[in-house]
Amino acid sequence: MKETAKACKPDTMQLESAIFWREKDFETKQGPSVDAGAKIWADAVLDLGQATCALRWKLHRGLQCFEMGLIPGDTSGTGSDSEAGSKSGSEAGSGSTAVSAFESKDRKNWSSLPELESRPNWGLALSLRSVPLGEALKELEPKRQRSWLQEQSGTVQPEGCQGDEPEKKIDGARQKQILQLRFALPEDAKIYGLGDVAAPLNRRGYSFTLWNTDDPSVQLEHRRSLYKSIPILFIHSRQEGFCLGLFFDQSARAHFDLAFSDREALIYTPEASALRLYVTKGRHLSEVQQRLAHFFGGRHLPARRMLGFHQSRWSYASQSEVSQVVSAFDRHQLPLSVLHLDIDYMDGFRDFTWHPKHFGDGQKLVHELEEKEIALVPIIDAGIKQDEAYEVYQRGLTGGHFLKAEDGQPYVGWVWPGHTVYPDFEQKKTRDWWAKEVESFVQKSGVSGIWLDMNEPANFNGDLPDELRSGAYENAPLEQNTEAVFADGSLHKDWHNRYGSQMSLATYHGLQQARPNQRPFLFSRACYAGQQAYAGVWTGDSISLWAALRAQVAQLLTLNLCGIHLLGGDIGGFGGQCTAELMIRWMQLGCFMPLMRNHTEINSAYQEPWCFGQETLEILRKCLNWRYRFLPYLYDEMAAVELGEGLPLWRTLAMMHPDDARCDEIQDAFYFGSQMLVAPVLDPAVRERVVYLPQGLWYRLEDFKVFDCREGGRSILCEANLDHCPIFVKAGALIPSWSRPQEPCRAQERNSCDQPKELTLLAFAPHLAQEDEKVSVTEKSLTCEEERFHLVDAGDGFAYREAFAQKSAVQGAGLYRFYWQEGEPTYQYTGDPKQQYEKVNIVLIEGDEA
Ligand code: GLC
Repeated sequence: MKETAKACKPDTMQLESAIFWREKDFETKQGPSVDAGAKIWADAVLDLGQATCALRWKLHRGLQCFEMGLIPGDTSGTGSDSEAGSKSGSEAGSGSTAVSAFESKDRKNWSSLPELESRPNWGLALSLRSVPLGEALKELEPKRQRSWLQEQSGTVQPEGCQGDEPEKKIDGARQKQILQLRFALPEDAKIYGLGDVAAPLNRRGYSFTLWNTDDPSVQLEHRRSLYKSIPILFIHSRQEGFCLGLFFDQSARAHFDLAFSDREALIYTPEASALRLYVTKGRHLSEVQQRLAHFFGGRHLPARRMLGFHQSRWSYASQSEVSQVVSAFDRHQLPLSVLHLDIDYMDGFRDFTWHPKHFGDGQKLVHELEEKEIALVPIIDAGIKQDEAYEVYQRGLTGGHFLKAEDGQPYVGWVWPGHTVYPDFEQKKTRDWWAKEVESFVQKSGVSGIWLDMNEPANFNGDLPDELRSGAYENAPLEQNTEAVFADGSLHKDWHNRYGSQMSLATYHGLQQARPNQRPFLFSRACYAGQQAYAGVWTGDSISLWAALRAQVAQLLTLNLCGIHLLGGDIGGFGGQCTAELMIRWMQLGCFMPLMRNHTEINSAYQEPWCFGQETLEILRKCLNWRYRFLPYLYDEMAAVELGEGLPLWRTLAMMHPDDARCDEIQDAFYFGSQMLVAPVLDPAVRERVVYLPQGLWYRLEDFKVFDCREGGRSILCEANLDHCPIFVKAGALIPSWSRPQEPCRAQERNSCDQPKELTLLAFAPHLAQEDEKVSVTEKSLTCEEERFHLVDAGDGFAYREAFAQKSAVQGAGLYRFYWQEGEPTYQYTGDPKQQYEKVNIVLIEGDEA
């Protein structure tokens, strides 16, 4: 055994610069109290053969955290005898065992991280190695070429397989030593997570590269990278009886080989020499998910009106076109709460401007829409037009707010406005400047929120050069400097994956400044882990294909699992032509998306709900009315999630039924909140489908027919006519709903998401109608919900947080507590009397068996 080299100086590790998670940025966040400080357990220096690695093991915000970084200047691996060898942190206690536990057998081989006495058993063996980046990528290359797509077609080259791409890009950095991690996987382990990648729910057997990429082609399994990077994974083994949650906090390009090349291993290759790895372990997916959710803290709850229906198109080209669209919603008696403006509202695609001829200054349009209870949300792109006469550009230039090329001048790319420069969102001063631009734009125009786009960031000339510099790292050493192994963070490639999140953060602050008492509304195309604290996301450019609709379910479930809260996909698809049937099925799925937006691109046919004929229009109206009817349920579930009381809104069946292995890979059905199981139709010409109902008593929401699965889960064949999506509700569920205004009605009434005078509570009896009434509630049902909180508030302020926290009287908000008492549904109210409903109707539903 070879003892390790130099004394460890973890404090000199500049890991912080490579990490998105910065508590100061999250001051506004609410959430359950977690261990905010960090307790250090051990420091160690590991000889990895080709380089030496400093490692600090600590407890951070409730999770185990490993900070790892290769020590600068030691790439020879010859420092074995020097200095303190197996130094351990003085605070560490058991830390000294850590060092001697590392063995460096062969320089090329992995060093295993055996169990440390004091370290809770994760169940997975982790090993590390240091390897030159070029070598690691070469090893990845042949694996990429074995893609199933290429094998099947023999012709199609999967993206990223062209061979020359990585070679060229990493040219200067090929010799750099990077850290690589390998986890030995139990045979049966399923791998969930990784945010927005296109693959089945269980990602085992696939490999991906996290590198935020603007590519509008279809998002299916052949794609290695999409718009977002959320390096969070869940590994669940039934055999071993555990679930592990891993967060690889590193925003450089990173390759995740999820048992693709080696069936028994997960290999993580970040193009970096330092990272933080957070680990948490529990028995079940839900337990681990909640721990990670607590770690990240509270989530972004949109104003209630933003949970209504959104209509968008690239582009409604003028104010009069918008008026026509809005009138058509009115004429067809369709509810609409938010109208989006795509890039053509701008003056020559310049952010924070309005096309003077087509939109005036925006104010009139905002006013016209607000009269009908419709919010206006314009797009803002990341790139700023390079134009001397454009004030935003001028201010950005003077303030030193743009990313710099190697010559020290702002880097100029090419996006919609032509020559474009990119705000340097890594710099705090740039985020402050941007926030001010947002604030003044929002205040002047009165728009209700912002939609952020092209923030991977996109450049029609190809990826931004790796070497771009941010002012935030002006004094950081350049990568060519061999001393600078810890310079991760100094070049664009090191923080590329969080560009979109930094832009979101800056925009969030701008919206907050503009309206301090209101919840900001924004969502973004690109993001990194942790984005949920202040912005939502949408899945970017999808194509109007059945395959794309099918893929959306696993995509949204996984994004939600990884913490993203406010999310949706373009209903009907963005590219290509949507058929009537596809639109119906997409809209039915969209009813469950927090961000329910119909959006399509410039070259496709119009896809507003009336564009597909009368029969389709009626079905789509039914969908929209369903959404508004159950808006209070959605709102309650989202508020509970934000406050850390709930699991994500979209939940896999696996998460809800950990003891039922049949649920592990179900991805054509999901839980919508805690009480509804949704089985959408995702294929053409399907009018009935098989639904697996886990153990319990289930009501079909459409007709209240009951399916008794108390003896155990089973599959049923269920009608799924074109006009409806099968939804099942748990026995014992207490579901709040609002009634819809009688048609025909005025736009204001129809579009409003304000709290009405009456609430109807659907109370699904915990037992079958014919069962003995005297049996206690818990005995009758296996799924009975004991109580449920329903939130009432103005819909856009912050009083609800207090209401939830105190469950007592607060101004501006109140809570209903619905519960069962001796088999009867009932309620109590606490909070602001002004928020109370005039009437609460309780409908007891006692179904007969189907
Ligand atoms: C991007 C966005 C899309 C938008 C278009 C024009 O492709 O993803 O939603 O419509 O740009 O702004």
